[in-house]
Amino acid sequence: MAERIVIDPVTRIEGHAKISIFLDDAGEVSDARFHVTEFRGFEKFCEGRSFREMPVITARVCGICPVSHLLASAKATDALLAVEVPATAKLLRRVVNLAQIVQSHALSFFHLSSPDFLLGFDAPPAERNLFGLAGSFPEVARDGVRLRKWGQEVIERIAGQRIHPRWAVPGGVAQPLAPARRDEILAGLPEALEIAKRTLSWWKRTLDERQEEARVFGNFPSLFMGMVTPDGTIEHYDGKLRFVDEAGQIVADGIDPSEYAQWIGESSEKDSYLKSPYFKPLGFPAGLYRVGPLARLNVATRCGTPLADAELAEFRQLGRGAVLSSFHYHYARLVEILHAIEKVGELLDRPEALDDDVQAYAMRNRLRGVGACEAPRGTLFHDYEVVKGGLLTRVNLLIATGQNNLAMNKAVAQIARHFVSGRKIAEPLLNRVEAGIRAFDPCLSCSTHAAGRMPLVVELLGPGGELLDRAGR
Ligand code: MG
Ligand code: NI
Repeated sequence: MAERIVIDPVTRIEGHAKISIFLDDAGEVSDARFHVTEFRGFEKFCEGRSFREMPVITARVCGICPVSHLLASAKATDALLAVEVPATAKLLRRVVNLAQIVQSHALSFFHLSSPDFLLGFDAPPAERNLFGLAGSFPEVARDGVRLRKWGQEVIERIAGQRIHPRWAVPGGVAQPLAPARRDEILAGLPEALEIAKRTLSWWKRTLDERQEEARVFGNFPSLFMGMVTPDGTIEHYDGKLRFVDEAGQIVADGIDPSEYAQWIGESSEKDSYLKSPYFKPLGFPAGLYRVGPLARLNVATRCGTPLADAELAEFRQLGRGAVLSSFHYHYARLVEILHAIEKVGELLDRPEALDDDVQAYAMRNRLRGVGACEAPRGTLFHDYEVVKGGLLTRVNLLIATGQNNLAMNKAVAQIARHFVSGRKIAEPLLNRVEAGIRAFDPCLSCSTHAAGRMPLVVELLGPGGELLDRAGR
């Protein structure tokens, strides 16, 4: 909203997202589609370049989650070098990843979504933003700004720049952490923790008033995927993939991210640049799975930090197995914020945080490297193939928003069924479709590999495909 996205020459393409809602002969909603009608050229653009440039280049795929791309890319290049990344470098990358999760979740929850909850879904769009919120709920608006700033400052203190840090490099990171910077981060931790705790507490107090949203904002059984450690603890930087079903039962576990293509198929559709990944053993589209905060809490056995584990236990009460409503992405985001802050404190308290051995050096030793991490919106994969000299011949990025594509379609259809009346798009429908999509926090810059403002257009189509109504922002 008030976000200014720096548009880089590489990605200066105007974004555009469209939602189509299809009515059948009886005037009932039969289906819905979230399309991203955008030029996708990033993977091709990288071919012929040196893999060593990739962390810096791919951090520019997205102005919203550059750190995730930087890290997934650095991990793919580590794999090409076939080196053991020093423990301190891993620790610092892990901290920066968690800090980005805090700042990105804070942006999603406070800046983009909390105005819907606190001012109402049908408040005028011009007021339904963080500035509108500052009038009636100044402490919430302030908390959002402070928390986001905390995440950004952690990134800045470790990686040097807020956006597009040239800090993660093949084999490690470019510089160690100075003791003074570590102390500054730790000094800001108690306030960040307090904000996370009080936000969770007001959110839980108002959950009862959100039953309608919880029921229809993408509430359906599906698989969930996320990374965990071998003992099932949530892991955002370097885990193995786990899939669970709606009952919370594990259906696949311990999958090395480099083997993602054996488990995840990518279906492309002609009217959208957003591919639709699916769990291969179940086929398309039955293999629909969700990623991101809700999925991560559903797949994990524990968070491994005390405050977040207490919250996780309470969160689980919302489901008999997995928590199924996509509306609870919001709640899951808050639990993850709390966990990430706790974890940053724990990691930076370790003596090796300040070690100066932060980079391993090698020539290219492999011809293929896959790097994956948990980005704010879900699991992110970078897959590179190179020739012996190190020039790239193939690049595949599998991004979180794409993986939620099928689930977003299903959520929109469910919301539309509940709120469509007649052959017109009324404001309540438009507002709720918008809010339902926002629960997933899609990163359209990422999905289309383009940065820019993403206007949303909603179309209502009749049984013959004829346009009945169109509305947009
Ligand atoms: Mg791809
Ligand atoms: Ni992104």
